[in-house]
Amino acid sequence: MRVAVLAAEAVPYSKTGGLGDVAGALPKALKQIGVDSVLITPCYLQTKGEYLQKIALDDLQVDWRGTSYRARVFYSEANGSPTFLIDAPEYFHRSSIYGFREDYERFAFFNHAALILLERIGAPPDIVHLNDWHCGFAAVEVAKLRRWNSYWRNTRTVFSVHNLAYQGAFGMEELWKLGFGDDFSRNAFAFNGAASALKAGLADADMLSTVSRRYGFEIQQTENGYGLDWLLRQRSDRLFGIVNGVDYDIWNPEADRQLPAHFNQNNFEGKRECKRALLQKFFLPENLDKPIFASITRLTAQKGFELIEQTVGEILATGACFVSLGSGEKSHEEFLQRLRDYAPSQVGVFRGYNEDLSHLIEAGADIFLMPSRFEPCGLNQMYSLRYGTIPIVRAVGGLDDTVENFDRVRGTGNGFKFADFRADKFLEKIYEAMFAYYEPETWRKIQQNAMTVDNSWQNAARKYVALYQMTRQ
Ligand code: ADP
Ligand code: GLC
Repeated sequence: MRVAVLAAEAVPYSKTGGLGDVAGALPKALKQIGVDSVLITPCYLQTKGEYLQKIALDDLQVDWRGTSYRARVFYSEANGSPTFLIDAPEYFHRSSIYGFREDYERFAFFNHAALILLERIGAPPDIVHLNDWHCGFAAVEVAKLRRWNSYWRNTRTVFSVHNLAYQGAFGMEELWKLGFGDDFSRNAFAFNGAASALKAGLADADMLSTVSRRYGFEIQQTENGYGLDWLLRQRSDRLFGIVNGVDYDIWNPEADRQLPAHFNQNNFEGKRECKRALLQKFFLPENLDKPIFASITRLTAQKGFELIEQTVGEILATGACFVSLGSGEKSHEEFLQRLRDYAPSQVGVFRGYNEDLSHLIEAGADIFLMPSRFEPCGLNQMYSLRYGTIPIVRAVGGLDDTVENFDRVRGTGNGFKFADFRADKFLEKIYEAMFAYYEPETWRKIQQNAMTVDNSWQNAARKYVALYQMTRQ
């Protein structure tokens, strides 16, 4: 089976969030189970030069908006699978990866160029696996190409929703410039009086998936459907939830190169060393006995950070520490700054994005907070599990699928989970976790339950293969 994965970001070439982790790891996992997979992703200004040593093509001719655009294509296997990076400076050499008015045009170009590239590099793929709104364009284009171009006749598309909240909306009048002026395309894109690349992907892909089972159900409900729940319900026989995996080559406390010491479920000495290093990093006193609560996140409405704001005072009142890594909405950033000024010996704040620090926090902290309003899958709770940093999560989306509430009597469970989006409910779980933390045997048990969960990509990759096969039925 030949599979081409298209994604707007992919580790290690680019990353702003979980999509990057997933798009980097899935093609590798597919390859490991015998699928002939390639990854196609843009080459950004932010992509490190070490991944751009090999040129695959320097004359990819892309007919685009009435002219002929020549793009360069780099080749790398740094993520463990063959990867083609499309280099079009006009679109991708910018100060950031996303956030421009014409993002829809940038990614429409990427989709179009990726399909032309596939035709250039070999036999047709059986599956083109598209991710999030950035790749909705290709679902429509393949559906159209299939009708008259024999290369594409047997290709099927899978569209994965990593986050329904981002829709890639733009004016309908732009469609013709992007090559989607015909009625078939307009119908696919039309949504709420505008064009939506997400809607196009959902409407025209042969098969749909989301990144957890529970999110797959949630988005079919009006409250969580962003106006697209009707379409998801209509296509529910083609919609499947597959929980993301963890790339244990990158997130493994026994071998993680970012850590000062290593550990596993039978030997926690190294975790103590990491805790010491984490406290030092944030200039906090070296008290290894009190728990460290942590958060690593984009500070957006999705992540429910206000619940942390409402409860962190209680956490600090017990003498525990709180460390935060992230950036985003100004009000949250300012809150963190004030909190740090208020309790400098208990609070560590890093505003911004920092890969190395995210590993040290996962390893050195004791309890990870993730009270999301919604969470399609969530990766940090799974990283936390592997690092024995016990997650407290809200029971939504992938958080519900991957975290099992600890049951004292049976000794089962790997974290703490609450349902209602309410600070008092969250606080109950915070106290419960802290209580368990101070009973070393109980805590060890939870940590061992957490660290031995198998969230490897192999399982998820097999489910994707089954999904790919279903496109033929
Ligand atoms: P989302 O994709 O919605 O942001 P996920 O939990 O799926 O949420 O993935 C977030 C990914 O981004 C994780 O790999 C996490 O470690 C990383 N991340 C988020 N914020 C930061 C940050 N400030 N610095 C470093 N890594 C971050
Ligand atoms: C999105 C979601 C997150 C998910 C990630 C990867 O960014 O917000 O929950 O883990 O995609 O699928």
